Amino acid sequence: MSYPYQIKSLDEYHDAYKKSISDPAKFWAAIAENFLWKKKWNNVLSWNFTGENAPQIKWFEGAKLNITENCLDRHLKDSADVPALIWEPNDPKENSVTLTYKQLHEKVCAFANVLKNNGVKKGDRICIYMGMIPELAIAVLSCARIGAIHSVVFGGFSAQSIADRINDAACNLVITCDGAHRGAKAIPLKPIIDDALLQCTSVKKVIVYSRTHTPVAMMKDRDVWWEDEIKKVEAQGKTDCPAEEMDAEDPLFILYTSGSTGKPKGVVHTTAGYMIYTTYTFVNVFNYQPDEIYFCTADIGWVTGHSYIVYGPLAAGATSMMFEGIPTYPDAGRFWDITDKFKVNILYTAPTAIRALMAHGLDFVKDKKLDSLRVLGSVGEPINEEAWQWFYKNIGKEKCPIVDTWWQTETGGILISAIAGVTKLKPSYATLPLPGIQPAIMDEKGNEISGNDVSGNLCIKFPWPGMLRTTWGDHERCRKTYFDAYPGYYFTGDGCLRDENGYYRITGRVDDVLNVSGHRIGTAEVENAINKHTNVVESAVVGFPHDIKGQGIYAFVITEKQNGDAELTKKDILETVTRIIGPIAKPDKIQFVKGLPKTRSGKIMRRILRKIAEGETENLGDISTLLDPAVVEEIKREKV
Ligand code: WT7
Repeated sequence: MSYPYQIKSLDEYHDAYKKSISDPAKFWAAIAENFLWKKKWNNVLSWNFTGENAPQIKWFEGAKLNITENCLDRHLKDSADVPALIWEPNDPKENSVTLTYKQLHEKVCAFANVLKNNGVKKGDRICIYMGMIPELAIAVLSCARIGAIHSVVFGGFSAQSIADRINDAACNLVITCDGAHRGAKAIPLKPIIDDALLQCTSVKKVIVYSRTHTPVAMMKDRDVWWEDEIKKVEAQGKTDCPAEEMDAEDPLFILYTSGSTGKPKGVVHTTAGYMIYTTYTFVNVFNYQPDEIYFCTADIGWVTGHSYIVYGPLAAGATSMMFEGIPTYPDAGRFWDITDKFKVNILYTAPTAIRALMAHGLDFVKDKKLDSLRVLGSVGEPINEEAWQWFYKNIGKEKCPIVDTWWQTETGGILISAIAGVTKLKPSYATLPLPGIQPAIMDEKGNEISGNDVSGNLCIKFPWPGMLRTTWGDHERCRKTYFDAYPGYYFTGDGCLRDENGYYRITGRVDDVLNVSGHRIGTAEVENAINKHTNVVESAVVGFPHDIKGQGIYAFVITEKQNGDAELTKKDILETVTRIIGPIAKPDKIQFVKGLPKTRSGKIMRRILRKIAEGETENLGDISTLLDPAVVEEIKREKV
């Protein structure tokens, strides 16, 4: 495949950027010409961030397409035997799997027919809860093939979290595995689904792929095995599956993400704009060249996996790697072993992984070649200078640009990032907006700050094709969350600065959202979970700097009875959070307190708690508005 829209020099970038701002419709229409349409659009863009029923965002209205024809069918002519997916198992002794575009196409068609045989129709919502195996990508693409909306839930979420997500979207089918291999552990998945489904009446069928061969309970009339269902479609001779004709703005998927309230939101992405944006940014940010091996270490359970393991790379006809395991199994050299084994050219990973591997020392790097690497990428949180330098020197051997890609579940794809080989780098800076992206930095009064060498809250003032369209089942919530704070702008929730050269540095969330190991967790969600424990009266959760995770979770908890075993209570609280949300939301520190710093109106002053959690004892700011300033002294004294 060739990419006529690939940017090859700084001049080309500036030129593309200018065109994308002066005439966005013309700019994106020209890129859209490189895709496969069943019918072309009538109108490139109509939008409104403020009017009635806002936001209203429509890209390529009137167009008809199927994203899987772009990700699979159109490559069959010239690239049928090019590897589409290369899968590396958790256990390095097990064989890896390569699926060419032809093979992936066959598998997607077969499984799409399995879905049809099990009653799935266009527009149905399908919950996918699986480990990182090729069948996860196949499941996702099979939904898209027949126009079903997938809702992938990360394998680390609890039964309760799954049930909430299934019920919110009224999913009628679940695709899962018996279990998942992650490092030395085999994690049960099907039993967790069974627990979740006790609370879900909408689910009629569960399709189970056997990966770990651990015993599972298969419910009569509800649960079927993936492998058996495939045999059925083969016996029926249903090897092909025509791609459903989808509207440009038909929903492609829902992905739940945390915000400042207790309940995660179902971010909705639609078809044409998302496809074009993920492909365009994939090809440009990583400077992908045909036949290169691209390895994104994310999990498909997060947006990074959706956009930059599955849809973007496959629509570009790239070879995309999937890794089942964890960076430290069997040892902290695993990423580098994989890089050498498959001669990976582009490696896209997260600062938290880099810091974790950095902590294991250079012994795990020194015997690796790593000479195939050409481009490195980072995503999920600000990358600190130390991790940047370590990655640049020891992995990239000072030859590979690091693209620090800033984006969000809501943005669908990368918005601010260097373009590999084009943009001059600056460690810990995401650098410049990609074509089509119009960032705005806002001051406290809600006005846009112009000029350079400024900081404030980051907004985007014009739509881009990959942006979210709504939050599932609650459009008003979408407006309130993203379009209310700064009328006329999309508000990201991030703080940022723009340096004297116009380079952007994202400084972190300005709302009550934590970023723990690159995972977004709302403080309110964790508090709600902690408060479910019988002995808990009230709690307040804040973040604190953590060497590996970026941010750790610090919980201040008031208990009803203080005469018990404090250590046991802490363990109980951790168990409660694991039950309600999942192990990723477990607090790193729990401090029992007698009171919380509250204003006279009863509002918890998190600013003070945040400072204490960060280790600040002197400058806590103004505490005169507190109902009982004495609690602050006690909390400081007993800090854990
Ligand atoms: C939040 C979005 C986008 C995929 C993974 C996370 C933070 C993400 C960067 C970066 C600084 C970053 C932001 C953002 N973030 N990438 N390169 N530099 N911060 O997706 O779970 O939706 O989280 O992650 O705070 O708002 P997400």
